[in-house]
Amino acid sequence: MLIKRKRGWEIAEAKATPESVFFGRRAVLGGAVAAAGVAATVAATRPAEAGWFFSSPKVPLQKLAAMPAPLDKTYKPGRALTPEKAATTYNNFYEFSDYKNCWPLAQKLPTSPWNIAVDGMVEKPFTIGLEDLIKKAGLEERLYRHRCVEAWAMTVPWTGFPLAKLVALAKPAAGAKYIGFTSLEDRKVMPGLDVAFYPWPYTEGLTLAEATNDLAFLVVGMYGHVVPPQDGAAVRLAVPWKYGFKSAKSIVRVTFTDTQPKTFWQTLQSSEYGFWANVNPAVPHPRWSQARERLLGTGETVPTMIYNGYGEYVAPLYADMIKAGVKPTVLFR
Ligand code: MTE
Repeated sequence: MLIKRKRGWEIAEAKATPESVFFGRRAVLGGAVAAAGVAATVAATRPAEAGWFFSSPKVPLQKLAAMPAPLDKTYKPGRALTPEKAATTYNNFYEFSDYKNCWPLAQKLPTSPWNIAVDGMVEKPFTIGLEDLIKKAGLEERLYRHRCVEAWAMTVPWTGFPLAKLVALAKPAAGAKYIGFTSLEDRKVMPGLDVAFYPWPYTEGLTLAEATNDLAFLVVGMYGHVVPPQDGAAVRLAVPWKYGFKSAKSIVRVTFTDTQPKTFWQTLQSSEYGFWANVNPAVPHPRWSQARERLLGTGETVPTMIYNGYGEYVAPLYADMIKAGVKPTVLFR
């Protein structure tokens, strides 16, 4: 049998180490009260104006362009932003652990300097330092919803730039149709990599059409400062119309190809986690409903939206597939 042990997402939340072990009960209670206040007042407000409650986790800061960057108001979050502490202490980062409270382990991630290799079907493969890439691409801030396949969700102010800018820099060859993303695999600092059962390194992929959709965003910051290790430093993806596992963290390689890349979760369990993984409340996960989602920070549950509410921007990408009769379980799981 392929799967020999309980995977992280199968562990009942009650069994995960409670946050109080890490923060102390007082800090958690104080945070919860503060979080409720922040959530009530910052809906659709830019982080700098909201005045964040929680200081950034202590990580080595790169000399990045100034943050917060100018806010792109195209994409309205439509709900309160998640308190920073909630978004940065409840994570999926299997290279460190399959427990949600893995953020202390992630602090050892070396984030500077950070290089990204761009290869495969491009005019000329190259490696670029993140600081140079930021200089070329510029930075902006976007407020995005994020919907995990496990049915929790958050709304985050990300700082970064459209993935399309990296694609333009790469000059893909005429036949390139997909982009594969590879996350850092560093056994010195990532204890989760010792779990041999997972198909390391973490990989993900998009079609070129998806990658050049304006919503696809390369993230280097969060809540107005450098993205902390546990959320995918030094650079991660945010593809908010897809389940969260598509948004690969700590990306070190971007490969252009003419064949659909094999992805981490698809390799592990293709019946549950596909290549497309577009959010759809009407297509359940084989083991749970996707109709609703729980908001980090408040615990409130709300209805899930098709394409996570971004259908007006991305539904046309899939219109031909739907017309051709592609099964919903292929497009939406
Ligand atoms: N990227 C890598 N490299 N490793 C991971 O374990 N988890 C994915 C995605 N990207 C993951 C990853 C999943 S399942 C989700 S929901 C999001 O990251 C979680 O992002 P967050 O921890 O910032 O909320």
